[in-house]
Amino acid sequence: MKDILLTTLRDRETKTEEFRKAAGQLSQLLAAESCSFLPRMVSLVNTPMASAEGSRLRKKPALVSILRSGLALLPAFVSLYPGAPIGCVGIRRDEKTSAPHLYSSHLPSLEKDDMIFLLDPMIATGQSAEVAIRLIKEAGGSEANMMLVAFLASSKGLAYVKSCAPEMHVLVAHVDEGLDAHHWIIPGLGDFGDRYFGT
Ligand code: URA
Repeated sequence: MKDILLTTLRDRETKTEEFRKAAGQLSQLLAAESCSFLPRMVSLVNTPMASAEGSRLRKKPALVSILRSGLALLPAFVSLYPGAPIGCVGIRRDEKTSAPHLYSSHLPSLEKDDMIFLLDPMIATGQSAEVAIRLIKEAGGSEANMMLVAFLASSKGLAYVKSCAPEMHVLVAHVDEGLDAHHWIIPGLGDFGDRYFGT
């Protein structure tokens, strides 16, 4: 199903409403997959009939969204982890150089054993993720307990992120080979934020 939703996102004819719907549905699939990353504990539960062995999450995860495009992933993750603290890191790409410019950061204080989902639909150069990872670590989070969640990554961006944070986990719907001179993912889907927010 991820391939079908990604095709809708890639299609230049897809209008805002359909684009948002596909982005929401793809987020739900990734959120569902993200669960296997979280440690469980065995927990006995009493059904109306008998007791049964079940499992519960050891600790609620934390969510960190890279603004603005990361907001697209947030509803699906919040719906699955309603009690999760949410951090936001605002990073703008310089139009000419594509260098990341940090304009705001609000993170919850984190502990080493907190599981953290870092949300950004597009990993182009990987530089925005690098900034966010550094801030998360400064707030107390650990690389090994972090998972970067994205719709699309360029192979170059993915390799860069892995070199910056080798212990971090990555969950990505698809990896594209290309990255053009202006750091757009090729074939990609264009400007995710503009298409999602309708700007
Ligand atoms: N961000 C986007 O929205 N699209 C790209 O291709 C790269 C970064």
